[in-house]
Amino acid sequence: MNDTSAEHVLRRPIWRQPRAIVATAVVAIVLVALNGAILLRGDEPVWLIAAAVVADMLAVGSGIVLAMREAVLAEAQSLRAQRETAQAHAAVEDMEARLAAIVDSAMDAIITINATQSIVLFNRAAEKVFRCRRDQVIGSSIERFVPVQHRAEHSARINAFANTGVTARRMGDGIMLWALRADGEAFPIESSISHTTAAGEHYYTIILRDVTLRKQTEDALRRQQQELRELSARVFEAREEEKTLIARELHDELGQLLTALKMDLAWLSERLPRNADALADKAAQMNALLDSTVGSVRRIAAELRPLMLDDLGLADAVHWLVEDFSRRSGIACRLDLDSEAPFDDVARAPATAVYRALQESLTNIARHSGARHAWVRVGLRGTILHMDVEDDGCGIDPGDVAKPRSLGLKGMRERVHYLEGTLSIDRAPRGGTRVKLSVPTTEKELNG
Ligand SMILES: Nc1ncnc2c1ncn2[C@@H]1O[C@H](COP(=O)(O)OP(=O)(O)OP(=O)(O)O)[C@@H](O)[C@H]1O
Ligand SMILES: [Mg+2]
Repeated sequence: MNDTSAEHVLRRPIWRQPRAIVATAVVAIVLVALNGAILLRGDEPVWLIAAAVVADMLAVGSGIVLAMREAVLAEAQSLRAQRETAQAHAAVEDMEARLAAIVDSAMDAIITINATQSIVLFNRAAEKVFRCRRDQVIGSSIERFVPVQHRAEHSARINAFANTGVTARRMGDGIMLWALRADGEAFPIESSISHTTAAGEHYYTIILRDVTLRKQTEDALRRQQQELRELSARVFEAREEEKTLIARELHDELGQLLTALKMDLAWLSERLPRNADALADKAAQMNALLDSTVGSVRRIAAELRPLMLDDLGLADAVHWLVEDFSRRSGIACRLDLDSEAPFDDVARAPATAVYRALQESLTNIARHSGARHAWVRVGLRGTILHMDVEDDGCGIDPGDVAKPRSLGLKGMRERVHYLEGTLSIDRAPRGGTRVKLSVPTTEKELNG
């Protein structure tokens, strides 16, 4: 196909070749001159007339030969052109057949529509997905495969795509798309669209996949996760209720009994004979033992559930927790608590979540960090309760949270997740560990 310019010139008809034109002109001039000379002079010798006749005959003969050659060449050229056209047609047909085979063997449904949204291509997978034969749909509108309520939106989506000038893109990013089978069943799909132009016509090819099974699995998984979350929320709640009950029993019942015992002991001590020093010492020892038992009962009750969280509120409970932590661990802890914030308005579940998260974070600092300082910040921003606990210890490793036997941080995450809050556990800028949590202050209703 890449002819050189010399070959190109030779393929031209002879009357368009410069050299042939010049040669013809020279021969014509010579013939005219010769014949003219003979005619004008009138008494030429026979040989000159004979030469002129021969030359004339030669010129006419060459003309005839050249004309025949041209005719033969033109015929050959036309035959060659016909053969080339036939070959090109065969190649195109072969390519089309191969393309059709590829399109037909594709796992995904492939549908091509023209600018008026009529179907021009419908592969075998599309026949299976839409449950109809291609000869039943070619030429009809793509709308028949779009659920009625999505038709306007679908048409607008294709038009919007046509106007972008982009050649291909995923359809309905982030939203679930629906299609309609020939028997009227709607099903979820995932699809992409591409645009091509052929012979001035616009074509849009939609490649789509039936994702019914995947959606069902995803829905079931989501339902299961939700159920698990609800279950764990109920377990947390039940544990809190149980702890509250035991704490109250310990604090009120046992506490009162111990106080009564203390009063009885005081009554008894007052009535001891004056010289019974041994008995008085024993009574003093019993009194000290009773004091420490009262202290232990209070501490155990408070650890189970600080009754002040219910009685006095979150702010006092946080104060108590931080002071108790500092006293027992020897780690200096700074508390930054927004004294103006209306913590009393915080519902029970988020208050408990923050209290338990703080308790777990401080226990972890004492157990794992080796820190010398800790910082606690609790505040309210609008309807969001924030807690930020930081230490200057060894820092947590990313894999630590997933330790199989460790439940503290997992429980914290579960509670926060259920309350639709956020939690991050990472290395603090100072090098230690930072736990950041925020939860909405409103109560979340349990379903069912
Ligand atoms: N402040 C911290 N500094 C350093 N490492 C920490 C800190 N907090 C947690 N870790 C690491 O993260 C791990 C997981 O903590 P998590 O509270 O989930 O479990 P645990 O404390 O080991 O056990 P428990 O179930 O009793 O809470 C810990 O074992 C520890 O290695
Ligand atoms: Mg822990």
